[in-house]
Amino acid sequence: MNFFEYRNEELYCEDVKISSIAEQVGTPVYIYSAKTLRRHYNVFKDAFVKTKPLICYSVKANSNIAVVSLFASMGAGADIVSGGELFRAIKAGIESKKIVYSGVGKTAEEIAYGLKEGILMFNVESIEELEAIDDIAGQMRVKAPVSIRVNPDIDPLTHPYISTGMKKNKFGIDVKYAKEAYNIARSKDNIKIVGIDMHIGSQLTELSPIVDALKRLYDLVSELIKAGINIRYIDIGGGLGITYKDEETVSLDKYAKAIETTLRNFQGKLVLEPGRLLVGNAGILVAKVLYRKSNERKRFMIVDAGMNDLIRPSFYDAYHEIVPVRKTQSKYVKQDVVGPICESGDFFAHDRSLPLLERGQLIALMSAGAYGFSMSSNYNSRKRAAEVLVNGKEYYVIRERETNEALIRGEKIPSFIKIRR
Ligand code: LLP
Repeated sequence: MNFFEYRNEELYCEDVKISSIAEQVGTPVYIYSAKTLRRHYNVFKDAFVKTKPLICYSVKANSNIAVVSLFASMGAGADIVSGGELFRAIKAGIESKKIVYSGVGKTAEEIAYGLKEGILMFNVESIEELEAIDDIAGQMRVKAPVSIRVNPDIDPLTHPYISTGMKKNKFGIDVKYAKEAYNIARSKDNIKIVGIDMHIGSQLTELSPIVDALKRLYDLVSELIKAGINIRYIDIGGGLGITYKDEETVSLDKYAKAIETTLRNFQGKLVLEPGRLLVGNAGILVAKVLYRKSNERKRFMIVDAGMNDLIRPSFYDAYHEIVPVRKTQSKYVKQDVVGPICESGDFFAHDRSLPLLERGQLIALMSAGAYGFSMSSNYNSRKRAAEVLVNGKEYYVIRERETNEALIRGEKIPSFIKIRR
């Protein structure tokens, strides 16, 4: 459920007209609904009243510090994958004791930063990383809290680019070697084992692979506990899918129940890392129609947002619903919705049935709150879009549209190049 709806043929976010935001802030613009974000967080939290997990919002899904701080204000922790995300999480007010750090390529600098901030745990993805963390913690004279990310080798039945828990994926340590990894971790002077972790993929719409993986993980946990290894946290990652078109999603209650049942004998704390589920349907990308054209085969709607703003259709062939911001009577015809970038892959939809809009009219790309702005780039030297957060009748610009100056910040022309003016 979300708070984007038509009133008198006009698309609203909560009590604010989308077209008035577009008029004042310009396009392309990302618009998020605070009420939807809060609702999603609460529904998620309420599904787990029994297990009371630590909910670590996965910052990569939408990294704007206003969004992260809204979750922080509701008690959330954060799942991070870089020093940059750690910086954002702290700026946004997330307590460092609620931060978990995943990722296969943490640098020495990032590890030291995490240790300095006193995060809850590093989700370690290789033996060499474990050794690096041990060394750095030793130099800093601290003990590093770690979990081992286990790769359970289970097909999560999602897009291959976003499946992460199979042998062919780079993530985690093979479940078969996990015990050995824990024994190595135990032998290190500067490592404190605190938990175990997995994350099998994203946009998951089937419960069974999650449960299978969790069972595999819990069998291992039982063995580890028997061997005297301290597993205080079981982190089962994120990954629950949302409805973009007509996908049936996993019932949150069934998910929560399955976890409860599988972990019924576990005494420690459950950690969850939801991303898309919290933010995906809480955001849209609004763009303006620049031009129309057609040939014998195709009709194109060219808009002022491009693949640099929302890469999911180009990258994963992902579906985003497209709607006119103001409903029109004009007839629906099949058309390609494309951006201004010099790539044929710069599209939002192919042969989509949409009304024939005029130049200057607005469209909304729905379900763009997750992996939208956070995956955007400056390709073609395009200034990244503005981001707006709506709260009831008010709206706030939470990231200004970039300027030309911002595009070249940090760039320098060396003195051996003489500029001719
Ligand atoms: N935890 C870990 C360790 C992750 O790698 C991810 C996402 C999450 C949690 C959050 O997953 P979520 O609940 O959002 O599914 N760019 C892709 C999705 C990549 C997901 C990467 N990892 C997309 O646009 O579909």
